[in-house]
Amino acid sequence: MDKLIITGGQPLRGEVRISGAKNAALPILAATLLADGPVTISNIPHLRDVTTTMELLGRMGVELVVDERMRIKVNSASIRKFFAPYELVKTMRASILVLGPLLARYGRAVVSLPGGCAIGSRPVDLHIQGLAKMGADIRVEGGYIHARAKRLRGARLFLDTVTVTGTENLMMAATLADGTTVIENAAREPEVVDLAQCLVAMGARLTGAGTDVIEIEGVASLSGAQYEVLPDRIESATYLVAAAITGGCVRVKCTRPSLLEAVLEKLIEAGAVLDIGDDWIELDMRGQRPHAVAVCTSPFPAFPTDMQAQFTALNATAEGVGIITETVFENRFMHVDELRRMGADITVKGNTAIINGIEKLTAAPVMATDLRASASLVLAGLVAEGDTVVDRIYHIDRGYQCIEEKLRQLGARIQRIPG
Ligand code: EPU
Repeated sequence: MDKLIITGGQPLRGEVRISGAKNAALPILAATLLADGPVTISNIPHLRDVTTTMELLGRMGVELVVDERMRIKVNSASIRKFFAPYELVKTMRASILVLGPLLARYGRAVVSLPGGCAIGSRPVDLHIQGLAKMGADIRVEGGYIHARAKRLRGARLFLDTVTVTGTENLMMAATLADGTTVIENAAREPEVVDLAQCLVAMGARLTGAGTDVIEIEGVASLSGAQYEVLPDRIESATYLVAAAITGGCVRVKCTRPSLLEAVLEKLIEAGAVLDIGDDWIELDMRGQRPHAVAVCTSPFPAFPTDMQAQFTALNATAEGVGIITETVFENRFMHVDELRRMGADITVKGNTAIINGIEKLTAAPVMATDLRASASLVLAGLVAEGDTVVDRIYHIDRGYQCIEEKLRQLGARIQRIPG
């Protein structure tokens, strides 16, 4: 297993280009199953989760071609199987996103139930209930969801909990249903909006994406299209925290600042000076140590759970006491024990972490447990005294394109050790 070795103490400086958003690229790839013609997607990030999705589609018989401009052309006309096996779903829960499109377009799907996860139990009951309400015949047997439907029917769906992939799955299914579907208490995440825009480009009749009520009028078929994935707001924010934690000055380019308001507000509170353009953000810490901040995660537009671990690392070396409250997932504090191994002073009570900032973390061997937890360990390593070795970094490769190259470009001393 590959490891990262990070020698801390270097304030980051320079510019970094942000890749396409993982959490938009994955549902958009799944949405290609709905189209009658080829869909060409650009700004797809080069990540392990994207490779897994391509493998999943490829095993179904879908044709995928990557062209010289790194666009992916997907043609699902050659599909032969309607099956997502456990061996792929267990490595990437987002595989569940093929359920809605397969059912809507082909009337059948067998998709492994995602198992446990390092950040919480993460059930998919709302995906299943919604599809059942649209007329699908669904049974869960032997760890698999077996679903069938002649043609899905439009329905009024109220989601008890705001769910991102749940909203996406139901939205995709509804595009080809008979009649109108209304999704209430829908997720408002920018990645949901990006998927909706791609579906509209394919001919879907859909309004309200970005609000908590999405209305979809089913059509008989969707066509091929061209679509460019939006920039990754979590990758953008992670590099801004890297600048803040090291007391540096970094400009993130090719991003969308309007999607980052809650995070930028916290960075300003931490003492950062921000300069913001149309598609870039520059963060300057002017060599100062950050102030501790209080953060409470919630669905968009509030502070994202996917930035919680990174802000825990920031607070660990900040001046003062920081408080982090996690309300989206029940067990997303796995990074805390690893940060403690680096000297961080953190107490967890229920869903709240209280962090007493210390002046210097010390390097230690640490282990990544999930994607964002690994990012927080890399951030901690950037300021720790000595050489931090982060193990199990396959988690980080799921969601950060070329992280060591991008950090090295900003002056970090970081190396990948193949294992
Ligand atoms: N939930 C249910 N029932 C369901 C679905 C969700 O109870 O049927 C609960 C979950 O257990 C959780 C809450 O609802 O407590 C929110 O989960 P959600 O369904 O929104 O999460 P997700 O769709 O599985 C996506 C992202 C995650 C991100 C969350 C929250 C993708 C592929 N994944 O997951 O991204 O943390 O939304 O914003 O879009 C990451 O990128 O590191 C990552 C984990």
